[in-house]
Amino acid sequence: MKVTIVGAGAVGATCADNITRRGIAHELVLLDIKEGLAEGKALDMFQTASLLGFDTKTTGSTNDYSKTAGSDVVVITSGIPRKPGMTREELIGTNANIVKGVTENILKFSPEAIIIIVSNPMDTMTYLSLKTSGLPKNKIIGMGGILDSARFKTYLSFALNCSPSDLHGTVIGGHGDTTMIPLTRLATLNSNPISNILSADELKKVAADTMVGGATLTKLIGTSAWYAPGAAVAALVESIIKDQKKVFPCCVSLNGEYGQSDICLGVPVVIGKNGWEKIIDYKLNAEEQAEFNKSAEAVRSMNAVLDTL
Ligand code: LAC
Repeated sequence: MKVTIVGAGAVGATCADNITRRGIAHELVLLDIKEGLAEGKALDMFQTASLLGFDTKTTGSTNDYSKTAGSDVVVITSGIPRKPGMTREELIGTNANIVKGVTENILKFSPEAIIIIVSNPMDTMTYLSLKTSGLPKNKIIGMGGILDSARFKTYLSFALNCSPSDLHGTVIGGHGDTTMIPLTRLATLNSNPISNILSADELKKVAADTMVGGATLTKLIGTSAWYAPGAAVAALVESIIKDQKKVFPCCVSLNGEYGQSDICLGVPVVIGKNGWEKIIDYKLNAEEQAEFNKSAEAVRSMNAVLDTL
């Protein structure tokens, strides 16, 4: 299986590093517009092959999309990242043009690819890529909820003093500081509902910390994060390539599911060889559904900005 990562910045390169070192793909192409950057990072990565024991053929390309031909999965990370104090939504003007162009170029050489969108504002970029590509909706997956859920489990593990791997927790809705919805009611520690262990105030704090999880890192590092985003993308790519049918919250096109249509938004989906294969209904209560509707409204008004660009 062949994977292309577009954008050799910190997020793109970390995706590539995770995918190669775990031998998830047979072949990986890293592509960037900056002369030599992708070639250099890909070569550096491939020089770890004998040390780490993988044989994924790893190459880089400066904007030559013919090198990406026949990719099964393409990850789009291109665009500018946010700086401290910026919201993901402020990136729309610059990133919309980039994501549209990249989607068109990719499809010229890989018309059958499954596309994973990482560029921000991710929910709107996923919607844009779906409309631009004309691909079946199951082939366009926005990466946000899986990352936000990993951050949710991080903050839960701090509060519970437990291993993050013993936790189940899901964040749905938009991938924005005010639009994501950590589902505290459904989170468990080894099947024990966390609401049995943490107080309502503690749960509220975990949810609030999760929602600004990305912003907290941006403030600390000076640009947006890459380790967890890279690992989150690799988990999605692995579930597609190995047809694992794992359930992850991802941004997908809704057609009445969760009460919304004509929008791409984060919901739990089964990820397998066909992309996102099924939406799972977590049966939200009235309060959660109201939050989901509010999140949809915010993302919808962001999508409307696309028409003005
Ligand atoms: C973040 C970026 C990838 O949340 O959206 O870190």
